[in-house]
Amino acid sequence: MKATAKAHTNIALIKYWGKRDEALILPTNNSLSVTLDGFYTTTTVSYKPELTKDTFTLNDEVVVGEQYNRVTNFLNKVRDIAGKQLYAEVKSINAVPTAAGFASSASGFAALAAAATKAIGLSLTESELSRLTRQGSGSACRSIFGGFAEWQKGEMEDGSDSFAVPVAPKDHWDIRVAAVVLNAKMKKLSSRSGMKRTVETSPFFKGWVESIPSDLEAIKQGILERDFHKVGEVAEANCLKMHATTLGANPPFTYWLDTTMSVMQTVQELRSTGVPAYFTIDAGPNVKVLYLPQDEEKVLETLRNISGVTDVRLSRVGQGIKYLEDEE
Ligand code: PMV
Repeated sequence: MKATAKAHTNIALIKYWGKRDEALILPTNNSLSVTLDGFYTTTTVSYKPELTKDTFTLNDEVVVGEQYNRVTNFLNKVRDIAGKQLYAEVKSINAVPTAAGFASSASGFAALAAAATKAIGLSLTESELSRLTRQGSGSACRSIFGGFAEWQKGEMEDGSDSFAVPVAPKDHWDIRVAAVVLNAKMKKLSSRSGMKRTVETSPFFKGWVESIPSDLEAIKQGILERDFHKVGEVAEANCLKMHATTLGANPPFTYWLDTTMSVMQTVQELRSTGVPAYFTIDAGPNVKVLYLPQDEEKVLETLRNISGVTDVRLSRVGQGIKYLEDEE
């Protein structure tokens, strides 16, 4: 009744932005991401008959409130599927610096889903696991797979066909991602609230959704052909479109800070000097920069010299869910 799983976070090259069903976490558009080896969560789940409720520690600290509720609600889904009413002790270790602006919920829910289902005796396929993980955190459903993965939004109202599928494995292509950490506080508006407001009020949202199919087709072709310029161009433009929708929302908002824009401009200048580098940004101020291994030194040096940048963390393409042996 105990299992441990490790999951890596992912960065979307085609963003998930907008839900068509809030409760089931069903998106309005397909998204596509690359899993990163530098940032991960390891979670151990142990079901214990003596427990009267779930317990959850993150980096050895007891978690309460909204974060705890999300975990215990997710475990309810696992218990329902297994038909077993046992509470669990959940211990997570996050190697995702929250300040790096990565959705640690992606690696967190992927590791939780894998460990919780295995410990309770379920053996799910990767698609089933991805579909279940989606209901904890949308972007997490892509972290079941390593390499490049696409979350297919699906058509069904019950979400049965909404899960991620692999596009290309980890070893297909050695691209790199630098996470540029800014001297900034935590984001004010969660991705959940930000996308809700955008869907409900932004006149640009329609254009965003309509632009997805051609972006997806182009980026998938670029990945399969290892065409870095194509992938970078599509990813950067897709990120800018997503962020443009927030400016049209009511009330309008942006996740960008002045340093965010400095990093974006620096990346574009770097490109004009012949170094292929492209940026993407999630629901926060930090920037992720895509580049090729041979340009690592130049890219790093350039990013570290930007005023307001406190750290640059490097990552390669990572693997999917991994089950670890419990020492007992
Ligand atoms: O799954 P969430 O609620 O953390 O939303 C993630 C949304 C973005 O990071 C902005 C885009 C994405 O596809 O990961």
